[in-house]
Amino acid sequence: MIQQALGTGWVQSTMSKGVRQSSSNTYLANANTRPNLTVVINAMVVKLLSTASPSKVPAFRSVVFTDGRSTSGTPTFTVQATKEVILSAGSIGTPQILQLSGIGNSADLTPLNIPVLVNSPMVGRNLIDHPLLPNIFSVKGNDSYDDTLRDPVQFQNAINQWAANKTGFISNNLINHYGFARVNSSLITIPDPSSGPNSPHFEMLFVNFWLDFAVSVPSTGNFLTIVSSLLTPTSRGTVKIRSTNPFDAPSIDPHMLTTDFDVTAMRESVKAIKRFAAAPAWSDYVIGPFGNLSATADADIDAYVRQRTTTIFHPTGTASMTSKNSTNGVVNPDFTVKGTSGLRIVDLSVLPFIPASHPQGPVYLLAERAADIIKGIVSL
Ligand SMILES: *[C@@H]1O[C@H](CO)[C@@H](O)[C@H](O)[C@H]1NC(C)=O
Ligand SMILES: *[C@@H]1O[C@H](CO)[C@@H](O)[C@H](O)[C@H]1NC(C)=O
Ligand SMILES: *[C@@H]1O[C@H](CO)[C@@H](O)[C@H](O)[C@H]1NC(C)=O
Ligand SMILES: *[C@@H]1O[C@H](CO)[C@@H](O)[C@H](O)[C@H]1NC(C)=O
Ligand SMILES: *[C@@H]1O[C@H](CO)[C@@H](O)[C@H](O)[C@H]1NC(C)=O
Ligand SMILES: *[C@@H]1O[C@H](CO)[C@@H](O)[C@H](O)[C@H]1NC(C)=O
Repeated sequence: MIQQALGTGWVQSTMSKGVRQSSSNTYLANANTRPNLTVVINAMVVKLLSTASPSKVPAFRSVVFTDGRSTSGTPTFTVQATKEVILSAGSIGTPQILQLSGIGNSADLTPLNIPVLVNSPMVGRNLIDHPLLPNIFSVKGNDSYDDTLRDPVQFQNAINQWAANKTGFISNNLINHYGFARVNSSLITIPDPSSGPNSPHFEMLFVNFWLDFAVSVPSTGNFLTIVSSLLTPTSRGTVKIRSTNPFDAPSIDPHMLTTDFDVTAMRESVKAIKRFAAAPAWSDYVIGPFGNLSATADADIDAYVRQRTTTIFHPTGTASMTSKNSTNGVVNPDFTVKGTSGLRIVDLSVLPFIPASHPQGPVYLLAERAADIIKGIVSL
């Protein structure tokens, strides 16, 4: 059987009895009673401390944290690892903590008067994310979820029902179908950024209501949203701290849609979605594109793409993994941080490329692999 991700189908979810199954209520819940596990809540890591002697590779086995509910940053507490610290703060938090600790690109740290303990030029570089574009169509009838979602009483009733016995329409993923497709290769003028001829460039999510994070639903009307998301973006952004205050959010520049491929692929996804929604099977339901989705000229579609694109929140790549003797990365294949000892990173920031998928499965695979390496079950 040929394994391929192309085509449309049912969304798969990690859920059980009407409740989402996250790594918290599965992995962590199963380990929570272990005597050798302590989970500290309301804690925010301020920085890692180096115990370097000048001639040696700096060790980062001390973690300074504070009460994450305060903004004063005091008092602070320090824990010392006997073996290793594993940093898992994600593609935004991980480079932020590294930079606060003096591990980063000296061009980012020096202007903030942070001593460069480890000059690691790629920290906070190579930010990759899946652009998300909500393509909205007006539809006939009132079978979409819009009336229910607009009506606070109906919506509260649905929440109450879910709270009471985990049933009702919000006990399910509100998005039940998706599709994966490729851009016609005649339009790709760079080496194909997908992982092969059976792998998608973009995803479509079919949503039975108005779904636009940036624009709230009009007071009347019923809608079908077909989200497009670029799975193989070639644009790269940055995450940089703006000050030495760990409570200051870092500057995140997604730098989206900054390559010809990314713009072309988003434009083609819009055209594909409009062809799909114009198919005869939809004629008794879809009225037509809403708002600037009605654009037909390439330049107008590009303008619409730039007006409406946001993120699907899959940031990846800001502490990327490269081979052991490469300096063009932040971690080694065993997840250790280059130029340090006693420190590993295990989260999506280490992937040098973004997977052409939703990241929950890939990050579990990555973490299982890291666990096997750390426990010595596999060696490299
Ligand atoms: C921690 O506790 C679990 C469950 O009791 C045990 O399986 C595991 O080996 C312990 N880990 C260490 C590092 O001692
Ligand atoms: C939905 O449409 C049906 C048929 O036109 C109508 O009877 C019903 O009142 C409508 N429901 C709402 C909530 O508007
Ligand atoms: C769940 O609660 C709702 C609202 O109270 C009720 O209508 C429904 O029958 C209940 N379902 C089950 C399976 O208990
Ligand atoms: C791809 O584009 C070429 C050139 O425009 C066209 O001949 C071909 O039919 C297209 N293929 C698909 C699958 O649309
Ligand atoms: C639609 O396009 C016009 C012309 O570019 C623009 O002024 C307007 O803001 C766009 N509407 C939305 C909702 O983005
Ligand atoms: C790493 O070093 C090995 C052995 O010296 C060499 O064969 C390999 O090409 C190097 N890899 C990179 C990415 O430099």
